[in-house]
Amino acid sequence: MAQEVRGVIAPGKDEPVRIETIVVPDPGPGEAVVRVQACGVCHTDLHYKQGGINDDFPFLLGHEAAGVVESVGDDVTDVQPGDFVILNWRAVCGHCRACLRGRPWYCFDTHNATQKMTLTDGTELSPALGIGAFAEKTLVAAGQCTKVDPAVAPEVAGLLGCGVMAGIGAAINTGNVGRGDSVAVIGCGGVGDAAIAGSRLAGAAKIIAVDIDDRKLETARSMGATHTVNSRTTDPVEAIRDLTGGFGADVVIEAVGRPETYKQAFYARDLAGTVVLVGVPTPDMKIELPLLDVFGRGGALKSSWYGDCLPSRDFPMLIDLHLQGRLDLGAFVTETIALDEVEKAFERMHRGDVLRSVVVL
Ligand code: APR
Ligand code: ZN
Ligand code: ZN
Repeated sequence: MAQEVRGVIAPGKDEPVRIETIVVPDPGPGEAVVRVQACGVCHTDLHYKQGGINDDFPFLLGHEAAGVVESVGDDVTDVQPGDFVILNWRAVCGHCRACLRGRPWYCFDTHNATQKMTLTDGTELSPALGIGAFAEKTLVAAGQCTKVDPAVAPEVAGLLGCGVMAGIGAAINTGNVGRGDSVAVIGCGGVGDAAIAGSRLAGAAKIIAVDIDDRKLETARSMGATHTVNSRTTDPVEAIRDLTGGFGADVVIEAVGRPETYKQAFYARDLAGTVVLVGVPTPDMKIELPLLDVFGRGGALKSSWYGDCLPSRDFPMLIDLHLQGRLDLGAFVTETIALDEVEKAFERMHRGDVLRSVVVL
């Protein structure tokens, strides 16, 4: 029996979001219905609403979520009703070339639910990133559910579902930050701050936070930055070199997604250092670099999708570290809000007032 719940949809390009009744089918083979307890508000939700991702309106927004599995389809064995889970948008297939090569974080064929959630008139919804969790319940592929220790608060756990995982993973998975490394992070929003927290966790000796907003630099310090640079007033490349004995940082993480900040990252790293691009550019952006510098400076220029995470490996580990007091994931939750406050949260996010607003259900 399908059930009806409340959910936040983006009805059309640039139209305000609104609460609608959502029809959630019973889980079929390989699917699970999850009772959502918390879901963070992410830039990607806003991009969906603005029509910046695709035109498949109406969208069921929300994708940084945690909750409890309510029911599962016939052949589902990895999770069962009652499990506390974080939802992920990369349920790896296990069969594609990347998975078979032992690099499942590059999986080309990640899973979502097969059945569609709809409005009561039958209109099919497009769930954001295949999740759609600004809703009391949502239907996902069972592989999108990763079981973690239920002792963690849902509003904290859900954040690993997207931005915070992307940032931590950019440091520890993609950038391979290690003990004693120097790291610079350009852009200290939720993603950049998570990269800072990840770098601290990995034992980085020096963590330089760069932003154009002093408020952000202050928060970055509380997340583990040892030095801060306001790049509106100071040349960040010079400053990072000065702070690293003239060399540049071992790893520079770009968490803005713009050509000028990428260029800063490129030149702020030490010879043979690593640049990690975790900020997401728009299709019109281009970058020009002297090819001789790309060659001559050596090292690695990498991008980080979702922090190159493997949910089954990384989510439970990071939640355990949080519960042990070694990683303060709670610091990313600026405020908890109700389902009908998503539009307001978008405005606050746009003004840069919050790291994360989290809808609690
Ligand atoms: N130089 C330095 N910092 C900048 C610049 C700049 N030119 N422009 C913006 N910033 C800072 C902002 O002040 C802000 O602190 O970058 C930060 C961006 O943070 P958020 O807007 O909160 O975005 P966040 O959620 O952290 O995501 C960052 O990663 O996943 C992607 O799509 C996401 O591209 C976005 C990026
Ligand atoms: Zn695969
Ligand atoms: Zn997101």
